[in-house]
Amino acid sequence: MPTEDKMSSTSVYAVNRAQTNSLEVRTEEIPPPPAGHARVRVEAAGVSYGDLLFQRGVIPGGPKPPFVPGCDLTGVVEEVGPGVDLTVGQRVAALVVSGGYTTAVNLPAARLVPVPDGVDAVAVASVALNYFIAYQMLHRVARVRSGQSILVHGASGGVGLAFLQLAEHIGNVTVFGTGSAANADLITRHGAVAIDYRAQDFMNVVRDTVGGVDAVFDPMGGGHFWRSYAVLRKGGRLVAYGQNNALRNGKRNLAIGAVGFLGGIALPNLKPDGKKTGFYNAWSLEKKQPAAYREDLAEVLNLLSADKIAPREVATLPLRAADEAFRRLEQGVTGKLVLTTD
Ligand SMILES: NC(=O)c1ccc[n+]([C@@H]2O[C@H](COP(=O)([O-])OP(=O)(O)OC[C@H]3O[C@@H](n4cnc5c(N)ncnc54)[C@H](OP(=O)(O)O)[C@@H]3O)[C@@H](O)[C@H]2O)c1
Repeated sequence: MPTEDKMSSTSVYAVNRAQTNSLEVRTEEIPPPPAGHARVRVEAAGVSYGDLLFQRGVIPGGPKPPFVPGCDLTGVVEEVGPGVDLTVGQRVAALVVSGGYTTAVNLPAARLVPVPDGVDAVAVASVALNYFIAYQMLHRVARVRSGQSILVHGASGGVGLAFLQLAEHIGNVTVFGTGSAANADLITRHGAVAIDYRAQDFMNVVRDTVGGVDAVFDPMGGGHFWRSYAVLRKGGRLVAYGQNNALRNGKRNLAIGAVGFLGGIALPNLKPDGKKTGFYNAWSLEKKQPAAYREDLAEVLNLLSADKIAPREVATLPLRAADEAFRRLEQGVTGKLVLTTD
């Protein structure tokens, strides 16, 4: 292939587990897309707290440095490999285990979900991961129905707000949402009962109000999982999906992760009490429900296109400023951060 045809991509790599100087920008050549693949020229990539947790190595089974963080990307198809039924110039979105912080990437066409006309890349990146995982946990894992009660931890956060908005679409779901007092209005505006996690004990609030809930969605980790499990009613389900407590003030606490998995998920499942627990991640369902990925991401994009979902405020940063995005994540950013490549 002549040199001038060679394509390159610029990516941000996580090169170590340290708190600072952990990200490095690298430019590399990328080959033409092989059969069944397409090259996407990335326009925007979402930043998630999970990216930081992966870089710091607090999520068991996460990628090892050097790796490119970022679990979603949106861009346009630039070139297609043999057997791919996508149009060059078409805007697509994809969820990836890692690799979102880049300007171009070859991906299997099966991962690329068309973006509805008129929806821009930053808007897609601001909802893709958060609303996809909330949608799957609500509809496919916990199967929440009208008339049920649920507890959403971190309800003022990116994923938490997604739960609240998607639960509103189910209708007649009683939702409890934990968050700080400063965010109580936001939680209430979305139809949930706000619980101040600093001043109130969510176990007491749930027990005193409804006795128990049908599902809890918990990204906190450690002993928090056990407390969430304890407020389930018979037949209820704890869906754990994060380990926030394993990283506090920049300090890793790997024991928290182990306590969460063993005490909050494995042990409760051994008790014959009619309750279930499990850890969800965005790839959990791919083996058993292979169609779910495309169906659910397409549904989220349709909801976005129809203005039925909207994230809290969105801030954009250039891809090369990913280290600033990580700093903001550590300080506790409000709203969604999106990296752009322009
Ligand atoms: N499993 C997966 O595939 C997957 C994918 C994406 C994200 N995640 C996980 O999802 C989690 C949430 O991510 P995010 O982007 O939504 O984070 P976020 O926007 O930073 O939100 C975190 C929220 O947690 C709240 N919070 C802090 N301490 C709390 C406590 N003790 N009790 C209850 N709430 C508390 C904060 O409330 P205030 O601001 O009101 O204090 C904030 O709203 C992270 O753990 C991330 O790793 C998992």
